Amino acid sequence: MQTNILSVQGITKSFGDLHALDGISLDVPRQKVSILIGPNGSGKTTLINVISGIYKPDAGKVRFNEKDVTGSPPYQLYQMGMARTFQIPALFWKLTVLENLLVAEKSNPGESFLNSLLKGRWINSETRSVEKASRMLGLLGLSRVWDQPCYNLSGGQMKLVEIGRALMSNAQILLLDEPVSGVNPTLAHEIFSRILRLRDEFG
Ligand SMILES: Nc1ncnc2c1ncn2[C@@H]1O[C@H](COP(=O)(O)OP(=O)(O)O)[C@@H](O)[C@H]1O
Ligand SMILES: [Mg+2]
Repeated sequence: MQTNILSVQGITKSFGDLHALDGISLDVPRQKVSILIGPNGSGKTTLINVISGIYKPDAGKVRFNEKDVTGSPPYQLYQMGMARTFQIPALFWKLTVLENLLVAEKSNPGESFLNSLLKGRWINSETRSVEKASRMLGLLGLSRVWDQPCYNLSGGQMKLVEIGRALMSNAQILLLDEPVSGVNPTLAHEIFSRILRLRDEFG
């Protein structure tokens, strides 16, 4: 049976007198790319913030992988396989494209003090991380700029780095907030086709 990876029921969220979300329900089936469309101020970012645990909803339920995760904190949802991007990319500007992907890797055995002294304990895992990041950069069309600091990138490339970084966590779902805003139509088309290719490649 086809199950939904994400299911949102009756979400309500107000900021004082402003009802940003009023009984929102939607289902996202596995292996599908779903798009939420609405004018500025219609509540898209607020809904992503509720789903990803940044805001607690006033009412309603968020189910992720059949589990009720309403009100769970963002780090827990991230550990469970939910990743998101931000409307305004939040990258490590002075780090390179590759480094931005590597910092998102969940397991870094070389970061413990004891392990850091024992190269054998982390070298394989570091190599695997770099291979994974390189493959991701290939799929995102960023191979040529792997060693550029992020402040040198175009707006579209910054969005792609954010997507790649989110995917380094082995996320099962990726919530993209405005993946093509401020990007020219040709590049927007390319970003969407790369998102579809990532879906086909990683399921
Ligand atoms: N933290 C907040 N405090 C007060 N109002 C907010 C906050 N976040 C969003 N809003 C308001 O909620 C409404 C929906 O905003 P938003 O979710 O950002 O819309 P969208 O992403 O669709 O443009 C807007 O009127 C916005 O001003
Ligand atoms: Mg928004």
